Amino acid sequence: MKITELSLENYRNIENISLSPCEGVNIIYGENAQGKTNILEAIFLFTGLKSFRSSKDSELVMFGKDFSRIKTQFETSHRKNTSEIKITDRRRASLNGVSLKSPTELMSRFPASLFSPGFMSLIQNGPSERRKFIDSAICQIKPRYAVLLSEYTKLVKQRNAVLKDNEDIKSVRLFLDCINDAFTNLGEEIYRERKEYLDLLLPYVSEIYSGLSSGKEEISFTYLRKGCHGEESLKEIVKNHEKADINAGITLTGPHRDDIEININSVSARSFGSQGQKRSAAIALKLSEAQVIKSITGEEPVILLDDVMSELDTLRQDYILNHIKDRQVFITCCDPGSILRMSEGKTFSIKEGRLK
Ligand SMILES: Nc1ncnc2c1ncn2[C@@H]1O[C@H](COP(=O)(O)OP(=O)(O)OP(=O)(O)O)[C@@H](O)[C@H]1O
Ligand SMILES: [Mg+2]
Repeated sequence: MKITELSLENYRNIENISLSPCEGVNIIYGENAQGKTNILEAIFLFTGLKSFRSSKDSELVMFGKDFSRIKTQFETSHRKNTSEIKITDRRRASLNGVSLKSPTELMSRFPASLFSPGFMSLIQNGPSERRKFIDSAICQIKPRYAVLLSEYTKLVKQRNAVLKDNEDIKSVRLFLDCINDAFTNLGEEIYRERKEYLDLLLPYVSEIYSGLSSGKEEISFTYLRKGCHGEESLKEIVKNHEKADINAGITLTGPHRDDIEININSVSARSFGSQGQKRSAAIALKLSEAQVIKSITGEEPVILLDDVMSELDTLRQDYILNHIKDRQVFITCCDPGSILRMSEGKTFSIKEGRLK
């Protein structure tokens, strides 16, 4: 997919701009607080999702204005499209002249993959961030997985409610006996889907990470099943932890407690990685997530990279600027020096919400 035209009106600090991006790398550069991220944020809204920065739509409208309007023309493998989003206290979207019931209807129409500095929490924070990443990545390519996940989550909640209220141990055990089969079957299925996804992701992420590190470092994943010490099935793991579950009043094992360790040169990036290594790993994961989407849906997501350059050395920056081939990429950065090293592509300089 390629964006051919973009225009923003009264969008945050941007009163009115139009731009025609190129098919490859587009750099938006300027000093701090000039509107670079605002442009990426506006593009991201065409995915139909909420902004990655504001939970309130009204915050996107320029101070003192009643509404904001963003428009785009983009080409997918099937056709040329136009889309418009009008923002007041909520968003209303249209696609090819037809008003949509909800902006979420844009979701599969405008595939985009965003890296923002907030995404670093994937590497730095606890396991829940990594579970969220993998679960939402799978949901994008397998809608059925969302159903599986919500059924499983419901069972965890039920199980926890009974465990918490554990006055009568006998009836707790009776309930667990009833629910455990369904719980562990769903849990195994989630585990299998996640492993399958990691297998799908690994060749892409390896290639990108190796490119970013000039072939000096290798990335790998270890799926860590909570409470598993060898090759036990989830059924065995859960059984082995039944007493601990009852004591803790909560379900201690299952995919809702698993983690995916991201390793660089075989050691945990979270515990041992440098800033640049962690950033490279997060970028490689985002870029490869997009490649998996491409391999399944046939449509190449637009890549939005907010502030990726900081903390990366020139070799790593060069890889991003010159080796992400065949895809449309938007990169924001402060340092105009990066642009000089870009062999092909288009640059947009922004100052106080205006293109220079
Ligand atoms: N609703 C709004 N109306 C007017 N201005 C706004 C609104 N929301 C945010 N801004 C302003 O937009 C400006 C630019 O924001 P943006 O995040 O795009 O900067 P940036 O160029 O990405 O900077 P940095 O390099 O620091 O990331 C900020 O100064 C902010 O105050
Ligand atoms: Mg910014």
